[in-house]
Amino acid sequence: MTENIQDPELTDDEKKMLTALLSDEQDMSGFGESRRLFLKQLIGAGGAVLAFQLLGDQSIFAHETDSSFDNFPENIEHAVSINFKVNGAAKSLKIDSRMTLLDTLRERLQLTGSKKGCDHGQCGACTVIVNNKRVLSCLTLAATCEGKSVQTIEGFAKNGVLHPVQAAFLKHDGFQCGFCTPGQICSGIALMNEVKNGEASYVTPDIRTVNKNIELSDDEIRERMSGNICRCGAYANIIAAIKEVLSGKEVAQHWLLVPAINNTIVTNPEQHLPNVQI
Ligand code: FES
Ligand code: FES
Repeated sequence: MTENIQDPELTDDEKKMLTALLSDEQDMSGFGESRRLFLKQLIGAGGAVLAFQLLGDQSIFAHETDSSFDNFPENIEHAVSINFKVNGAAKSLKIDSRMTLLDTLRERLQLTGSKKGCDHGQCGACTVIVNNKRVLSCLTLAATCEGKSVQTIEGFAKNGVLHPVQAAFLKHDGFQCGFCTPGQICSGIALMNEVKNGEASYVTPDIRTVNKNIELSDDEIRERMSGNICRCGAYANIIAAIKEVLSGKEVAQHWLLVPAINNTIVTNPEQHLPNVQI
C-alpha cells in the first residue's frame, strides 16, 4: 500500500484521498496506471456536477430575473398571462396556470419575503394581502390575481420608514427566528383594516352591535391572528405589538423579564431571576 501511494504520478492530495478511501487490507495492485485516470475522472465528474449546478443556478436566476411577458420561455406548460400589481408596481407575467401566488412571488418576482412553511394552508407563513384582504398565497393560484393588487412584506416600509406594525414587532421582540414574521405582519396589517371596517370575528361577543373601529381584547387579537403559527412561540410579544398599534397606547414589553426590583435598576439580573415572577 505504501509503495503504491508513493507513486510519483500522484500528487500529495491524491495520495491523501486514496489513503482515506482505501483500507490497509485492500490490494491496490492492478490499479496503478489507471489510478490517475480514475482520479481525473472522479475530479472531472465532480467538476462537471459543480459546473452543471452553477449553470443550472444561473439559468434559474436568469429565469427569475426575467419576469417580462415577452421573454419568458415559450415552452411553459399550461401557459396563461396575468397582469396585476405587486406592491404598487404593474407586473405582466406568463405563468403555468397551476402556479401558486407564493411561487410566483418567490420564483418569478424574487420577492422571497413571503415564506413557504407548509405549502398546505396550515401555518400562515405565506400570508400576503390581495385587494386589502389577507390570503394564504400557497393556496391562491396566481392566475386568479388578474387585475388585482398584491401587497407583500417587501412593500410596507416607505422611504426607509417601517410600517407601524413592523416597528412594533421590533419594539416588542415579536419574533425569534423570524420565519413566520412576514406572514404575521401581513396578517396584523390586514387585521387593522378589518377592525376599521367593523368586521366581526369568531369571538366577537355580539355581532349585532359591531361598529367600525372595534376595540379588540387580547382574545380577539389571538383569534384573529390564529391562522399564523409561530414555532418559536413569540405569541405574547406579537399580541403586544398589535395591541399597541391598534390602541395607539404604549403596551408593556414582555421581554423585560427582570423588572426593576425595589425601584432600583437591576444590573445583575441573573441573581434575581429565580425570585422573579414573570
Ligand atoms: Fe401557506 Fe403554510 S405556507 S399556510
Ligand atoms: Fe420563529 Fe415565529 S419567530 S417561527
